[in-house]
Amino acid sequence: MSLFGASVLVLLGFIYHSTAGFMERQTEETINAEVRGLTEQYGQQGLSGLVRAIESRVARDKNGGGLYLLTDWKFTPLAGNLKEWPNIEAVRDGWADTELREADGTRLSARLKYFLLPGNHHLLVGRDVAERNTVEGLIMDALVWGLVITVALGGLGAVLMTRGMLGRLDVINRASREIMRGDLTRRIPAKGTGDEFDQLTGNLNDMLDRISVLMDGVRHVSDNIAHDLRGPLNRIRARLELALPENGEHSANRQVLARTIADIDEVLGAFHAILTISQAEAGSRREEFAVLDLATLAEDLVELYEPLAEDKGLRLRVDLTPGLTVSGNRHLLSQALANLVDNAIKYTPAGGEVGVELAPGADGPELTVRDTGPGVPPEHRDMVLERFHRLESSRNAPGSGLGLSLVAAVAKLHGATLTLADAQPGLRVTLAFPGVEAAASQA
Ligand SMILES: Nc1ncnc2c1ncn2[C@@H]1O[C@H](COP(=O)(O)OP(=O)(O)OP(=O)(O)O)[C@@H](O)[C@H]1O
Ligand SMILES: [Mg+2]
Repeated sequence: MSLFGASVLVLLGFIYHSTAGFMERQTEETINAEVRGLTEQYGQQGLSGLVRAIESRVARDKNGGGLYLLTDWKFTPLAGNLKEWPNIEAVRDGWADTELREADGTRLSARLKYFLLPGNHHLLVGRDVAERNTVEGLIMDALVWGLVITVALGGLGAVLMTRGMLGRLDVINRASREIMRGDLTRRIPAKGTGDEFDQLTGNLNDMLDRISVLMDGVRHVSDNIAHDLRGPLNRIRARLELALPENGEHSANRQVLARTIADIDEVLGAFHAILTISQAEAGSRREEFAVLDLATLAEDLVELYEPLAEDKGLRLRVDLTPGLTVSGNRHLLSQALANLVDNAIKYTPAGGEVGVELAPGADGPELTVRDTGPGVPPEHRDMVLERFHRLESSRNAPGSGLGLSLVAAVAKLHGATLTLADAQPGLRVTLAFPGVEAAASQA
């Protein structure tokens, strides 16, 4: 901004300097021409010729601004339109500037050239420069105003431009933050002007498209692996079961085989989870939606997990409000709730408590599973929803990090909001279903 102001100042200064200089040179040239004429007259016709020439010029040039004065050696005027010899202080190269009074008494500023003629006659030829000074003043005023207006407009422009730029950067930043929070389908809005910001936006969006395609590719590959390996694994499992010796419960052979079957079951479980998550995310299970009573669904599940909780020395507290329904996929919702209860039981140390609650929420029913275990630190609550993400502290527990991913996918499929919160102590996971109208528009 100050650089801009300085360059405008330099430019206007240059304009002033050249115009003023030009006008000054013009005055001097006019005077020089007059002097040449008069000197000629003097050379040809002597003093009387000079007097006549001066008088005719004065007569001709009534308002033209020409100033003449010829005096004898005592400075007594002989000819010209100046009443008396002016008070000239500094004469440089024959030039002098002075304020003087004309024959009719008006005051004026003059630029004069002074000559000493043979016979000690003094000659002054000059011009009234009042007009020039006025014009110079006007130019100066115009330039100063020009400077003020240019700088003001420039400043305003700079402020508006900066604000516009920051505004657009803010749009990009906000969209990027939302995308980073996990909504990869979102795109940064462009303004449509085709400027650099739109190009940046376009590039970022293209990049996101590319990332989406790559991620879909990765997902596709893992789905394919899960899908294709299920067949051979099932066959291996079947053969191992056949190979299990009928009797001899505790033989070493039998134990090895049984443990291998259990491991294969775990891998099959993970593959099943991967495929279910993909299906839920793709929305292909929406056709199987039906109106479900959530309390019944939860009750069945709790019954299934009660023995497990008891074995681990956990209290299971159930509080279900009856009559709350949602439109959904029974199998997927049961699986999601099972994963939450499974986590609560798995990660809560003996002596703790696991709670399953169903209550009407702000929009639709809210299903909550809470425990008194170690909980999930706030900064990890988004990440544990991603596939295969497990906290460092639970690496020793069995599992593959797919449980909560499935819950998240099922929540999304049902238009429900999944929230992980601090149960002080422990984790509190809530599935908040949409209201009836929202659910209807969703389906
Ligand atoms: N109730 C909980 N208390 C404390 N930590 C939890 C709880 N639920 C989940 N977590 C943490 O979140 C991680 C992800 O959970 P998720 O259910 O997705 O996977 P997992 O339980 O490790 O494996 P899987 O569910 O596939 O058997 C867990 O590894 C654990 O670190
Ligand atoms: Mg789990």
